[in-house]
Amino acid sequence: MRKKIVAGNWKMNTLLKDGMELAKAVEKLEKEKRSDALVIIAPPYTHLSRVNDLIDSVKLSAQNCASEESGAYTGEVSPDMLVSAGVEYVIIGHSERRSYYGEDNELLNKKTKLALSKGLKPIFCCGEVLEEREGGALFDVIREQLNVGLADLTKEDISRVVIAYEPVWAIGTGVVATPDQAQEMHKFIRDLLVDLFDKKVAENMTILYGGSCKPSNASELFANPDVDGGLIGGAALKAEDFLAIVNSY
Ligand code: PGA
Repeated sequence: MRKKIVAGNWKMNTLLKDGMELAKAVEKLEKEKRSDALVIIAPPYTHLSRVNDLIDSVKLSAQNCASEESGAYTGEVSPDMLVSAGVEYVIIGHSERRSYYGEDNELLNKKTKLALSKGLKPIFCCGEVLEEREGGALFDVIREQLNVGLADLTKEDISRVVIAYEPVWAIGTGVVATPDQAQEMHKFIRDLLVDLFDKKVAENMTILYGGSCKPSNASELFANPDVDGGLIGGAALKAEDFLAIVNSY
């Protein structure tokens, strides 16, 4: 059975106190939700263990993790550390990590495999920039990101991965993909998963859409057969808006 998920990526927003208030508000509204979607929040690292004490039905994600297990890697946070703080999911390969911090497909594959080996569930992001879409390279870009990023994963591994398609031109821009554009790429990704793994894996895979998703456009995006929820940035910073997106399922 394919799981529906709405995940909130808080990025580098909220101080600890505000983050804890937001987490509490999301947990409260989640209890009253009118949807069977699983709700996940991804606060900054500094908030994780405190937020973990405040949530129950809402699940906890980190926004990134190290590609190494432990040791002399100043400033990095390992998958084991995340697990010890109560984290269940981890966003890997967000376009902001790819473009501002130079994270390439090989590194993201290493992170994905390490996170899986430690019991975390990766939310693996892919997406093309505007020039790639306009130049017609969009499918090649996504194929490469997934071929390399998910290389060497077993069927058991991939069953614990969530994929997020996030067209870079739609992230934080207010320009949202049309429902047809989203469906076209989600279908492409699902077909690719048939080639990389098998039909059963592809059918069971949760594929989220991300990029300027908000209460006013979520329901038409989620109505597509291959869109299984959303990875929400800006609109996840207000509990009411975030839950309105969850409830638009
Ligand atoms: P946005 O961000 O909803 O603010 O466009 C989405 C994301 O980056 O995950």
